[in-house]
Amino acid sequence: MNKTVGEARDLVDQILRELGDFKGVDVVLCPPFTALAVVSEAITGSLVDLGAQNMHANASGAFTGEIGAPMLRELFCHYVILGHSERRTLFGETNGIVNEKVRAALQANLQPIVCVGETLEERESGATEGVVESQVRESLRDVGADELAGLILAYEPVWAIGTGRTASPEQAQEVHALIRSVIASMAGEPVADSVRIQYGGSVKADNAGELFSQPDIDGGLIGGASLEARSFVQIVKVGAR
Ligand code: PGA
Repeated sequence: MNKTVGEARDLVDQILRELGDFKGVDVVLCPPFTALAVVSEAITGSLVDLGAQNMHANASGAFTGEIGAPMLRELFCHYVILGHSERRTLFGETNGIVNEKVRAALQANLQPIVCVGETLEERESGATEGVVESQVRESLRDVGADELAGLILAYEPVWAIGTGRTASPEQAQEVHALIRSVIASMAGEPVADSVRIQYGGSVKADNAGELFSQPDIDGGLIGGASLEARSFVQIVKVGAR
């Protein structure tokens, strides 16, 4: 819940300027719903793509305050973040709800970015693996192997989001490898290899390199550092190395 329409417009213009003709990394901007239209217009003709931060599982209907997939598609939105930890912890989204949304997004031709991650309490009690495995399995229940292929997941340890506390590259790699092995058990190795697993949680230009160089870390989901064009584009450029 950052950036008004005007602020988002300024930020996207600055990001496009900073990026110039830079290629080599897929960049998706996911502004709040209210700024989708203006960002969509601003990125037209660029290599940057558009995503939303959430959606409802129903396409339309009596769900006051909610946004459905066709509304996003009409704005040339191709991605949607689902099950972000703030949705899970502050708005009561269960794995079951996330699963409904994932299936609805896929049906509507929106690429979901499915977030998973343990809380500090879960990590300290040694529950990380179990929590993350069930988040992956339950959030992706009844999703076919053809849809799992090329899917995007994000591992975001809740204790690292917006806290300035990043998972060490080793800690992150361990969970990313686990996520890939869960996908392999659900849909086979080739599908697991095709899945992109992003790391999120206090990624900055100075820690991105080490994180992105881990074998199972395929990119980043950037929160705070994306609110400022220069720090965001620095991270994008680290991603190309
Ligand atoms: P952060 O946020 O980069 O500010 O930790 C990540 C996120 O909200 O997904």
